[in-house]
Amino acid sequence: MERLSTGIKGLDALIKGYPKGRAILVTGESGAGKTILGLQFLNACCEAGVKCVYIIMEERLEDVKAQAMSFGWDLDGYVHNGLLRIIDVLERRIRWLDDQTIIRLEESDDVHRVEKPYKSLIRILSDIYEERKLCSIPISGVRREKKEVPDVVIIDNIGVVAMGIPTPELREQLDGLVFKLSGLGCTSLIISDDAVRRMSRDIMLYSVYGAIKLQKRDNPYINKRERVMDIIKIRNTKIPLDYLLFDITDKGIELIAKSED
Ligand SMILES: Nc1ncnc2c1ncn2[C@@H]1O[C@H](COP(=O)(O)OP(=O)(O)OP(=O)(O)O)[C@@H](O)[C@H]1O
Ligand SMILES: [Mg+2]
Repeated sequence: MERLSTGIKGLDALIKGYPKGRAILVTGESGAGKTILGLQFLNACCEAGVKCVYIIMEERLEDVKAQAMSFGWDLDGYVHNGLLRIIDVLERRIRWLDDQTIIRLEESDDVHRVEKPYKSLIRILSDIYEERKLCSIPISGVRREKKEVPDVVIIDNIGVVAMGIPTPELREQLDGLVFKLSGLGCTSLIISDDAVRRMSRDIMLYSVYGAIKLQKRDNPYINKRERVMDIIKIRNTKIPLDYLLFDITDKGIELIAKSED
């Protein structure tokens, strides 16, 4: 099975990279390092000339770019070189909220007619790629963005959409999203916040090929808190059973040699 570098040397040494064309779910509480794990993979891919789509749902794009730049990962440069396409869903969500407020103030009947961005997970696909039309006669005056199927898709964070979806439907929608992304040959990192993971009672784990959980925990032996990575599963891959101790440094996520428990 072909694999793509995670961008983390120590992790590559253990799991040989993320399996190509498959989906990995990344969960963890707030501040656990999910976004950085995603950006580190994104940077490794772009450095290797692998084309990526990054879907940002909950953080300001400027903040994410600045966070990436603090590690020396230049997202604007990758966009400029055609290696990266960024889809800013937060901006779209805020615009939708503004529209709703205006419509309500005007007491218009349109309130339910303005569609919420991403009512379902599967809708995300329409932003990632566009099926080639059989007939491609250019329509004058309309400039359409060409959307090619990328090699890698990173979604941060699906919790924003998943929060309002009942658990059985969420399972179906995630199955659908993962199935389609893998069918397109995309390697994907799907990030979800812990609130949704808990609410859905870990049902999302079954939809994906691999799952990684990041957490901060107390280490009573050294009386300190530490960051650990739990590789919950990666199918067709030998994974370490122990928690992997890591740190966030000015180079991003780095594994620390051995957990002390
Ligand atoms: N240059 C850096 N050096 C050391 N630590 C850093 C650096 N940059 C960020 N961090 C730390 O990394 C932590 C994790 O950041 P990250 O944004 O990846 O978390 P997250 O899991 O995505 O959180 P959220 O759920 O709130 O989005 C931050 O809270 C911050 O303390
Ligand atoms: Mg984040």
